[in-house]
Amino acid sequence: MTARIINGLAISQQIREELGKQVEGLKRQGVAPGLAFVLVGDNPASVSYVRSKNQGCEEIGVSSHTFQLPLETTQAEVIELVQRLNADPTWHGILVQLPLPAHIEEHAVINAIAVAKDVDGIHPANLGRLLRGEPTFKPCTPAGIQQLLLRSGHHPQGKHVVICGRSNIVGKPLAAILMQKAPGADATVTVCHTRTRDLAAMTRQADILVAAMGRPRAITADMVKEGAVVIDVGNNRVADPSRKSGFRLVGDVDFDAVVEKAKAITPVPGGVGPMTVTMVLYNTVLAAGGGAALQ
Ligand SMILES: NC(=O)c1ccc[n+]([C@@H]2O[C@H](COP(=O)([O-])OP(=O)(O)OC[C@H]3O[C@@H](n4cnc5c(N)ncnc54)[C@H](OP(=O)(O)O)[C@@H]3O)[C@@H](O)[C@H]2O)c1
Repeated sequence: MTARIINGLAISQQIREELGKQVEGLKRQGVAPGLAFVLVGDNPASVSYVRSKNQGCEEIGVSSHTFQLPLETTQAEVIELVQRLNADPTWHGILVQLPLPAHIEEHAVINAIAVAKDVDGIHPANLGRLLRGEPTFKPCTPAGIQQLLLRSGHHPQGKHVVICGRSNIVGKPLAAILMQKAPGADATVTVCHTRTRDLAAMTRQADILVAAMGRPRAITADMVKEGAVVIDVGNNRVADPSRKSGFRLVGDVDFDAVVEKAKAITPVPGGVGPMTVTMVLYNTVLAAGGGAALQ
């Protein structure tokens, strides 16, 4: 079996078109959605992520601005900026680009973001709501994965989803989303990590396998059940002297081998990545009062 490719770029574009119409509607009601980015330092990957989110905002008519602070900014100064943005009605969403420099405690900054403007869905109050199955801003990468599954015809209901990785931004919230007794969910979820005994025995049980480990090509074909749906969250830079940049991106899945065994698979790049940015836009429209009809 050769897998169908789940095209994250196309699905992302479809959602952005829906969002663009919602933004037009909000503007007709006198609401101009706005998203503020807080960037500390000039880490190239962070700068590039913020740039692509800014471009996404422009594409759907959301105004955005990057508040860039020097690397040596103190935690108190970052929190002061976040509080200023909390109080400014121009900004419906605030996104603090992570990771922050080592001298700043991330949780302290995240906790300072107004719950109603936390479009990354990482404030503890929003994560608590997520776990309780209440309306909230879903964290963007897991929300994007849910949309990829639904819009490619692979509803998770009743399926065994095995997630490799238990981070606070991917594995844990994805488990919380897909296990809910809710439309677009109702899966049976297993979460694996570095202390999982016999990872392959777990992954081979997956109807839907999600790899979010940060380990290039760690999921090999022998770890995948014939006909499984495979979602590759991994975004790893590996050296490639043939490229001008000196590197290329590979996922956590051995794509070339797994594509022959899976029913459907996301590529890297062009799978989960674009969806993450799109769900930031979705949450911003939601924060501004749009009611985008996504499950
Ligand atoms: N495309 C996107 O939009 C997007 C967004 C976010 C992240 N990512 C990518 O997704 C990957 C994961 O990101 P993250 O932030 O969730 O990473 P993370 O915080 O480093 O967490 C990695 C998780 O994988 C587990 N793990 C690592 N090696 C493993 C192994 N050999 N066997 C089983 N479990 C293993 C770890 O287990 P322990 O908990 O036991 O250490 C941990 O729970 C990275 O490549 C990242 O770049 C992509």
